[in-house]
Amino acid sequence: MPNPSSASASSSAERRAISDHLHLSRGAGPQATRHEANARHGDADLASALVLALGIGPGARVLDVGCGTGEIALRLGEAVGPSGRVAAYDYAPAAVEAARARGVRAEVADAAHLPEADADADALLCAYAAYYLPDLRAALAEWRRVLRPGGRLVVAGPAADSNAELYAFHRAATGRGPGDADRLALGFVARDVAGALGAGFDTSRTGTFVNVVVFPEVDEAIRYWTATSLFARTVPPEEERSAVERGRRILEAREAPLRVTKRTTVLGGVRR
Ligand SMILES: C[S@@+](CC[C@H](N)C(=O)[O-])C[C@H]1O[C@@H](n2cnc3c(N)ncnc32)[C@H](O)[C@@H]1O
Repeated sequence: MPNPSSASASSSAERRAISDHLHLSRGAGPQATRHEANARHGDADLASALVLALGIGPGARVLDVGCGTGEIALRLGEAVGPSGRVAAYDYAPAAVEAARARGVRAEVADAAHLPEADADADALLCAYAAYYLPDLRAALAEWRRVLRPGGRLVVAGPAADSNAELYAFHRAATGRGPGDADRLALGFVARDVAGALGAGFDTSRTGTFVNVVVFPEVDEAIRYWTATSLFARTVPPEEERSAVERGRRILEAREAPLRVTKRTTVLGGVRR
């Protein structure tokens, strides 16, 4: 079980450097790979749970901040229908391009500087991105600005005990534990975002969403693993090949396929 240190201990510059490496230097491919695997091999649908938590239906105006490659924004669009509006933002141009290719209305913007009018949005989602933001409080103030009074904020991210089986496998294959990106992310929403939300929001509820992902094929498990921030931040380039070979041998020797229990904290707030 990982034992992450408090994400709030990392500096703004460190967060930004980790995010820039994962999302600007590596492009959007790894994100899309992980999404596809979670959807194909998972037993639960996070996007539906997020739509429910956002409380949105036809006609709603929704923002998706840190939208990545747009899979969730697309689902928000289905929920609000043609009379609604979903605007998706990400600071990484490659992610925005991938989201647009899916038909999502996406633009490059920083989470703390949204090109949106005051008090216009009914709901705002930030999924698996809050821990990358250099200044969480500035982002929360911006999200408060763009939400109407009574509008819903939903912030989602990995619970402290998410992905435990993946960490055990990674340790067996590489001898390494979770890296800086994992320490940043694990438990961040329940701890840091929940702690900061009180400035401007009433907490509506927090829940944990569980998705068990089972990789029937070794190749698919390897593809997922090498697309994670865990792999990208802990395996030096010169060791990648040998790590993959060891990982493959471990998986091929197992009787059961690799399963990874993803636990997502879903935190809801209502704009005061
Ligand atoms: C792990 S992905 C999550 C994508 C999507 N929300 C999802 O759940 O599938 C994190 C995203 O946050 C974006 N991001 C990081 N820092 C950001 C910032 N300061 N402003 C806007 N987006 C940011 C990254 O570019 C990346 O696309």
